[in-house]
Amino acid sequence: MVSYIQAPPAAAASAPSPIKATGRSLNWGVVSTGRIVSKVIADLQSLEDANVIAVSSRNEERARAFADEHDIEWAYGSYQAMFDEPEIEAVYIATPHGQHFEIAMAALKSGKNVVCEKSLTINAAEARALVAEAAAQDLFLMEAVWSRFTPAFARAMEILESGELGEPSWVQADLGFKAQYDPQWRLFDPTAGGGALLDLAVYPLTWAIGTMGFPTSVQASADLNEDGVDLQTAITLGYSGVRHAQLMVSLNSSSTREARVSCTAGWLGTNAPLHNPTKLFIHPVNGPARTEVFEPVGENYTYEFREATRCIQEGLTESPTMTWEHSINTMAIFDGIRHQLGIRYPNDLARTSNS
Ligand SMILES: NC(=O)c1ccc[n+]([C@@H]2O[C@H](COP(=O)([O-])OP(=O)(O)OC[C@H]3O[C@@H](n4cnc5c(N)ncnc54)[C@H](OP(=O)(O)O)[C@@H]3O)[C@@H](O)[C@H]2O)c1
Repeated sequence: MVSYIQAPPAAAASAPSPIKATGRSLNWGVVSTGRIVSKVIADLQSLEDANVIAVSSRNEERARAFADEHDIEWAYGSYQAMFDEPEIEAVYIATPHGQHFEIAMAALKSGKNVVCEKSLTINAAEARALVAEAAAQDLFLMEAVWSRFTPAFARAMEILESGELGEPSWVQADLGFKAQYDPQWRLFDPTAGGGALLDLAVYPLTWAIGTMGFPTSVQASADLNEDGVDLQTAITLGYSGVRHAQLMVSLNSSSTREARVSCTAGWLGTNAPLHNPTKLFIHPVNGPARTEVFEPVGENYTYEFREATRCIQEGLTESPTMTWEHSINTMAIFDGIRHQLGIRYPNDLARTSNS
């Protein structure tokens, strides 16, 4: 019989709160008034050293309403108008992926440090161009893969690296939900970079990359709808040695939304959702199984903003945890998958030639 021991994660117990200041205060502006900004904003505002002083929207009334609701001083009816404001040092971009490149490039060219939602861009060529601009301007740029900074993910990596479970050999991770078709919704809109791949695969992939690094081979199959958007995509990653990852993303089916890492001397699993688990299940072959439990701080986006803030305070241009290489390689994997599946976006044709 498996016995479960509730154990506090040692690392999390001693870690400082992500809300605590790590240096001077930064002035932030946020781009868009969409769904995710509304969820994330309180976490950014909760940092002791973050002043969220502005919001921008394509529509001035929406910006003003959002600013009033979230106690933000300045509201702009265009993204560029906010980028032109010298007091703003960093921006958080949360538009659909199809628009990330243009907006993040405009922000960088205006001298702003950038945290941009996932997927960073819609192809690797765009990601490389953003990285080149950030490097040239000596500005911080990070894809907002918040999962990488959560204590549960960090602890999972610590356990796997400790060798307690042997060598990781197989990752299974899925992320699926039933999205009602709406051609206006970014998930189904090719110009927004719609589809399960770019919206969801970043997260299961984070478990495969975190555990085993970047793969040597990628195979995918998918079901596309009439607009050429992938509704459900299965991805198999190959590695040297006896190592694989099987990832599944879907806009068509509800799934367990869990990750499991099978190792030569046991396995580790998460509860749902795998992008922000609150439990890790650790099953060593030669010992009792245990569960480690994690308390979120806010919605748990606090950790990615702590990382970005600390990096900017320290004058870093990239996060050592969520690196530029990671984002570019991820987009290159997606390019390869899209090539296999025949997924094309109207607004990436001009920019894919060197991807
Ligand atoms: N980290 C996470 O947990 C998480 C969760 C969900 C989504 N995301 C990511 O966050 C980004 C936004 O997702 P979302 O669900 O918040 O999207 P959303 O609700 O559709 O909002 C996107 C916002 O972007 C602005 N926008 C600019 N150009 C646009 C265009 N051509 N079409 C539509 N909207 C446009 C709009 O704001 P204005 O009109 O005010 O300018 C819109 O409200 C995506 O990249 C997604 O992958 C992250």
